[in-house]
Amino acid sequence: MRVIVCENYEELSAKAAGLVAAQITLKPDCILGLATGSTPVGMYGNLIALCQKGDIDFSQVRAFNLDEYYPIKKDNEQSYCRFMYDNLFSKVNIDLKNTYIPNGETDDPVQECERYETLIRDSGGIDLQILGIGQNGHIGFNEPDATLNSRTHLTALTDSTIKANARFFDTYDEVPKHALTMGIATILRAKKIVLLASGANKSRVVSALLNGGINTSIPATMLKTHPDVVLICDRDAYSGARLGVDIGGTNIKFAVVDGGAVQYKSAIKTASSCEAILSDISSEIIRIMGEYHVKNVGIGTPGIIKKGLVTCANLPFDKTPLERLISEKTEVSVCVDNDANCAALGEITFGNTTDCSNIVLVTLGTGIGGGIIMDGQICRSNENIGEIGHMIIQAEGGRACPCGQTGCWERYCSMTALAESAEEYALANKDSILYHLYLENGNKLSGKLIFDAMDRGCPAANTVFDRFLNYLARGIESLANIFGPDAIVLAGGVTVQKDRLLEPLQKKLKKDVRVEISKLQGDAGALGAAML
Ligand code: GLP
Repeated sequence: MRVIVCENYEELSAKAAGLVAAQITLKPDCILGLATGSTPVGMYGNLIALCQKGDIDFSQVRAFNLDEYYPIKKDNEQSYCRFMYDNLFSKVNIDLKNTYIPNGETDDPVQECERYETLIRDSGGIDLQILGIGQNGHIGFNEPDATLNSRTHLTALTDSTIKANARFFDTYDEVPKHALTMGIATILRAKKIVLLASGANKSRVVSALLNGGINTSIPATMLKTHPDVVLICDRDAYSGARLGVDIGGTNIKFAVVDGGAVQYKSAIKTASSCEAILSDISSEIIRIMGEYHVKNVGIGTPGIIKKGLVTCANLPFDKTPLERLISEKTEVSVCVDNDANCAALGEITFGNTTDCSNIVLVTLGTGIGGGIIMDGQICRSNENIGEIGHMIIQAEGGRACPCGQTGCWERYCSMTALAESAEEYALANKDSILYHLYLENGNKLSGKLIFDAMDRGCPAANTVFDRFLNYLARGIESLANIFGPDAIVLAGGVTVQKDRLLEPLQKKLKKDVRVEISKLQGDAGALGAAML
């Protein structure tokens, strides 16, 4: 999707009209797909002016409108039929016989929709489709959760759309509760699409569109599957760049996201005092803001966040009001969340699971961390949610965990646990390659050495890793049973060994679970924080 950011509504209207005019000039008998709503009114004004000056000629143009309320009389002041007549058709030299709008007066809406869809198809298809966007992301009247393959159809309007459109009617009750609308599939068949968004009340949805994945709950995001879409928005609707910060024990990472793409990344060393960390982060934020038009900053931190206060075992934060302190220093709006939550948000927004609404992220590191996203939102019901590493996987005789329990998942499937299992097994198998590597490495093993041993055909290493996979599979099945996610995403050093991990793991799974390997790895936290 190409994005054109205009200074104001006037510029947006002129730019959009310019694209329509160019289309008519290139193909005088083109087929336009037209939209209603307040946004395209300025564009229609410009087109009228161009036509009246003789710069464009509508005489051979055919136009199909996106939608119409149902039921509604054609002469009702709020019908889209009337809207198009008043705002364009009566003021340009278009032949009214070449203008088509779904018939809101029909007794048989289903048949009317079929007729309309066939008319569009038989016309040869829309060359240029103009779209506005509803505050909930609807296009035409395709409300959230519209299906991707929908054709022209009768639809019930959501309450938020009825409320948003009530401004055009005298009372809420007068707003029709249904509409006939081109479907997403109808819209996506257009050769070119121009999407218009104006005003601050559209900035949330524009942000979701530009920065998020494809999600049926925001129908406009489905436009991302089309190869030729231009979004023209004004400064108020444009959400601006987002800056994400991921605080780690060693490094602090920064990422600027704009237009759904990563524009910039940087990292600094983590200082040892709380004050120094806060001042380093603030200076870097201020420096980056000097280069990018950043409107929001999100920060991911390890530890527990309770009522805005961060406490963390590995960092010098003890009930530290991170959000407040950094927004005071930087004078920008800051939002803080747990780093695993941020990483999960990063994965669902930019990773291999952008088609999902529900994922569980599992980070296999020193311990096991988890981030849960349900319905596109981070689960934050309480500060301990996501402690999936402490799910009991071995009920009897399990390994002791520093958390006080025994048999926790992270005591079997964290990288620390994998190395520990390998060390135990090496000691019990002193003729193994694994044991030699253990000795060579100063009586220690690591994930890398286990894979080296496997490369050298060491049966002991294979057994250790096979057991690890068994425990991993059991944990994943439990997560799938509890959360029913669309996918489980695995992250952490071991996932670099994708071929060794994914297929054997899938063979061990007794449930049909989609497992993905993290695409973003170490960048997931900062990218997700940007999306908070
Ligand atoms: C209506 C129309 C949409 C339009 C939307 C936004 O619901 N059916 O096609 O995009 O309103 O309208 P506005 O441009 O007034 O915000």
